[in-house]
Amino acid sequence: MSSRYDRYMNLLKPLSPDDATQGKVYIETYGCQMNFNDSEVVLSILQKEGYRYTGRMEEADVILANTCSIRDNAEQRIRGRIEQFAFQKKKRRGVLVGILGCMAERLKEELLENATVDLVAGPDSYRRLPELLAQCRVEGKGIDTLLSRDETYADITPVRLDNNGVNAFISIMRGCNNVCSYCVVPYTRGAERSRDQASIVREACQLYENGYREVTLLGQNVDSYRWVGPSQGEASEVVDFADLLEKVASVHPRLRVRFSTSYPSDISDKLLDVMAAHDNICRHIHLPVQSGSDRILEKMRRKYDRAWYLERVRTIREKIPGCGLTTDVIAGFCSETEADHRDTLSLMEEVGFDSAFMFQYSQRPGTLAARRYPDDVPPEVKTRRLNEIIALQMRKSEERYAALAGSIQTVLVEGPAKRGEGFLCGRASNYMMCVFPGKGHQPGDYVRIKITSTTPATLIGEVVE
Ligand code: SAH
Ligand code: SF4
Ligand code: F3S
Repeated sequence: MSSRYDRYMNLLKPLSPDDATQGKVYIETYGCQMNFNDSEVVLSILQKEGYRYTGRMEEADVILANTCSIRDNAEQRIRGRIEQFAFQKKKRRGVLVGILGCMAERLKEELLENATVDLVAGPDSYRRLPELLAQCRVEGKGIDTLLSRDETYADITPVRLDNNGVNAFISIMRGCNNVCSYCVVPYTRGAERSRDQASIVREACQLYENGYREVTLLGQNVDSYRWVGPSQGEASEVVDFADLLEKVASVHPRLRVRFSTSYPSDISDKLLDVMAAHDNICRHIHLPVQSGSDRILEKMRRKYDRAWYLERVRTIREKIPGCGLTTDVIAGFCSETEADHRDTLSLMEEVGFDSAFMFQYSQRPGTLAARRYPDDVPPEVKTRRLNEIIALQMRKSEERYAALAGSIQTVLVEGPAKRGEGFLCGRASNYMMCVFPGKGHQPGDYVRIKITSTTPATLIGEVVE
């Protein structure tokens, strides 16, 4: 007798060579780079089972949203989108709507109560998507939100979306073992696990062979990457993040390597030395500080204080001159006073970040902060503090970019710039976006650019012959 699983899987078998597809899949992605990379994994899994990708929701048989829960407004946006999906379902019978990712994991069955939603799948359930979709066709609904201790999708080659053929993401780990009191990620993504190092290096090699010239290694806290195991026929070895970065940098000198996100208490001198030793490891570190106040950092359960953070910044700048530094900041966390807020401003003033992602604190249900501390900074105060933070950062960005006027930067060409006909864009090693009039250059070329003018977010220059 066949099991339920076999029955669903039989439904997936192509009926005839003329009917080789299961239908078209459209996917929208919200949230972080890791979520974008997950959508590429999802498409790879579905394509193997006969689904085809479409960029047009209007012609899709399956509409998927890979969602984010990091702040309340991220979830509200997705709720609005579900209403749009309902409209598609009304117009065309048989369309299935699936919610994937962090919001699926956080809300589980609650999402299925919405008549529009047929499928709910958490971040560790993507291998089961073909089966769950088949189940939806038979039973109406399908859900799997089990988190895993070891799923890393290591063997799945992501289908590259939004493809300029130059940069690609490689997820090197999943989940997070920190418990920052404001953050929902440990609940939506589960425990931290590192992906087999050999599979990461192999993916980087394949990307280089396929013409890619930049890879970004992704994890919530890349510095805690750790792989223990045998490697390509050799004895068991322990690979930490610095070792991994070195291996990926050794794939080819013309393959640039970036990484994100670093956690201030875990970023090691060994890592900085590896960066300094390899020209193709980009001179950029995204080092989220969150707050400049020790009292708030402690309440946030970040494992460093202001002095530690500033020491790391000094060491980074000593070991890697010209290193780009970017950060994340939260305004108005529980109990934050004006003095705490001024500490954040003064830290930002002192460091001088190139750019920053800046947010108002948003209470997330189930987190430590939601259970322990009242969300007591009034909304108008949060907004005012955030505006002050943004204004300061604008000024700093302007200074940081302007300081590079007259310098020569090596830029990896990504494609046409929005600036107009003939202009190309690409990033300098320090992550700053650079725009220049192209001279027959192609995406993937390295060009030396002399910077002639700047804005707070762009370097403008011309090719050095
Ligand atoms: N793992 C990374 C951050 C991932 S989330 C790190 O630890 O640095 C990305 C950013 O979203 C965080 O750095 C933080 O600034 C912001 N964020 C997370 N939870 C938030 C919340 N509840 N309210 C507002 N911003 C939040
Ligand atoms: Fe969230 Fe902290 Fe983990 Fe970053 S390190 S994902 S902020 S819990
Ligand atoms: Fe959002 Fe989940 Fe990433 S909550 S930021 S999509 S890990």
